[in-house]
Amino acid sequence: MVMPLAAYDAIADWYADYIAAGAGSAYAQRVTAALARLLPPAEPGGGTCLDVCCGTGAYVAAIRARGWRPVGVDLSQGQLRRGREVMPVVQADATALPVRSTSVPVATCILGHSDVPDYPAVIHEIGRVLRPGGLFVHIGIHPCFTGAFADRSDPARIIVDGGYHRTERRFDSFTTQGVRNRVGAWHLPLAGLLNAVVAAGLRIVDTVEASPQDAVPDVFAFAAVKPAH
Ligand SMILES: C[S@@+](CC[C@H](N)C(=O)[O-])C[C@H]1O[C@@H](n2cnc3c(N)ncnc32)[C@H](O)[C@@H]1O
Repeated sequence: MVMPLAAYDAIADWYADYIAAGAGSAYAQRVTAALARLLPPAEPGGGTCLDVCCGTGAYVAAIRARGWRPVGVDLSQGQLRRGREVMPVVQADATALPVRSTSVPVATCILGHSDVPDYPAVIHEIGRVLRPGGLFVHIGIHPCFTGAFADRSDPARIIVDGGYHRTERRFDSFTTQGVRNRVGAWHLPLAGLLNAVVAAGLRIVDTVEASPQDAVPDVFAFAAVKPAH
């Protein structure tokens, strides 16, 4: 099957630089800190961490630092060209993972939820592949304070408008230096995000909000367990 051109194909190199050294690097440090808190150390001998929407593999080192073996899944060949330099990867849709049910001890989805039109379907799919007792770590832009509905020109005093309720993909942004103005972003309000976790049968065990000093949070993350019984 020929995959359609994915949104990130044309900007993969820009994206890798944006995270590593560009305007996104401070944000990436907050994401890395959230991951370090939410991802437990691997069992003796390690285990697979399925990194859904892995992109260029920006957080592979943080996953390995906890003892896990990352395996990435992403739709974009452009992103995977960089991602496969740092881990085994497969091109697939996150709503139809080419993975056996109840086989994976840990799955992450880092900054992926605003890139898919139906993130509840992704969480449901992750719930399918997790083994009983397995853990899902979600890290994303903060659904209340980051999006086309939020003017973050002053990070300490952002303005949120009623566009919060709009769930379609939007490209408009207070800045021309970010990701959204290049590839767009879908919006899933907070209740929709949390209800998707409930619907997938997962149980949230920890949450993180992060921001620069004195600023309104721009990261929201959680760890959720698939009950053993
Ligand atoms: C903002 S990037 C995040 C990449 C990486 N996790 C990181 O934090 O650097 C979002 C990624 O989601 C991928 N993506 C979008 N829709 C997808 C889908 N339906 N299935 C798998 N990956 C998808 C994009 O190709 C892109 O690489």
